[in-house]
Amino acid sequence: MKLKNKVALVTGASRGIGYAVAKCLAKNGAHIIATARTEGGLVELDDAISDAGGSATLVVMDLLDRPALPRLAAAIQQRWGRLDIMILNAGMLGMLAPIAHLDEAVWDDVLATNLTACFRIIHHLDPLFRQSDAGRAVLVSSGAADAMRPYWGAYAASKAGLESLGKGWAEELVQTPHKVNMLRPGRIATNMIAEAFPGIDKSTLPSPDDIAEAFLQLCLKTCPHQGQVLDATQLT
Ligand SMILES: NC(=O)c1ccc[n+]([C@@H]2O[C@H](COP(=O)([O-])OP(=O)(O)OC[C@H]3O[C@@H](n4cnc5c(N)ncnc54)[C@H](OP(=O)(O)O)[C@@H]3O)[C@@H](O)[C@H]2O)c1
Repeated sequence: MKLKNKVALVTGASRGIGYAVAKCLAKNGAHIIATARTEGGLVELDDAISDAGGSATLVVMDLLDRPALPRLAAAIQQRWGRLDIMILNAGMLGMLAPIAHLDEAVWDDVLATNLTACFRIIHHLDPLFRQSDAGRAVLVSSGAADAMRPYWGAYAASKAGLESLGKGWAEELVQTPHKVNMLRPGRIATNMIAEAFPGIDKSTLPSPDDIAEAFLQLCLKTCPHQGQVLDATQLT
């Protein structure tokens, strides 16, 4: 129970990596605030966490819904007065296409989901994070941020921006006990990887459960990293 009494926000917890990380942190004693749009996925997560003896609060919300975040911040303030762990995981791939053909609406959605929503979460929740005795944040990035892949323009730019945002936030917190790091999961067997590589055999890839431990490492009081971009393989 390495995270006993910790309050942890996990975005994108309805499936894939967020779902597995939420289960892992709950198993280690954290109370999970699980967010996503798909209620069914969150309910399934809640059942899995309860069956393992943990606890969660479900928040069905679209991260692009502007008033939802200040509402969430107010609810966390009222119930716990602090936020110990932030896993900013929710994300979308968008369309893979040459920049000249990329639908502008897709660019807007990818940047809004993968970057602007994370800025807004930090903007609204940083005061609660600072109330923790050892706040830990993990921003979920991707090797695509600097892989120079053709057709990945929007997604790659959103993750490069996310890494810059996280590094800047980490510097703002450098005189505090709080730590912010960026984690690149690698290719993991989720819906998103199947969307990115339609022919891929998911059974050959690590599962989300296989990399959940890497997230746990970055949430512990003993985490030595600050403002770093890490690969999950470095931590598992
Ligand atoms: N899988 C990989 O190989 C891989 C590699 C590198 C990086 N990543 C990153 O890892 C993270 C998780 O990806 P994944 O593979 O687990 O993808 P996934 O299975 O598609 O899950 C994405 C999660 O994000 C949530 N989400 C997306 N848009 C949202 C919105 N507008 N509001 C609220 N929630 C939203 C989804 O929930 P709802 O649809 O229920 O809202 C879902 O829970 C992403 O940031 C991704 O970029 C994944």
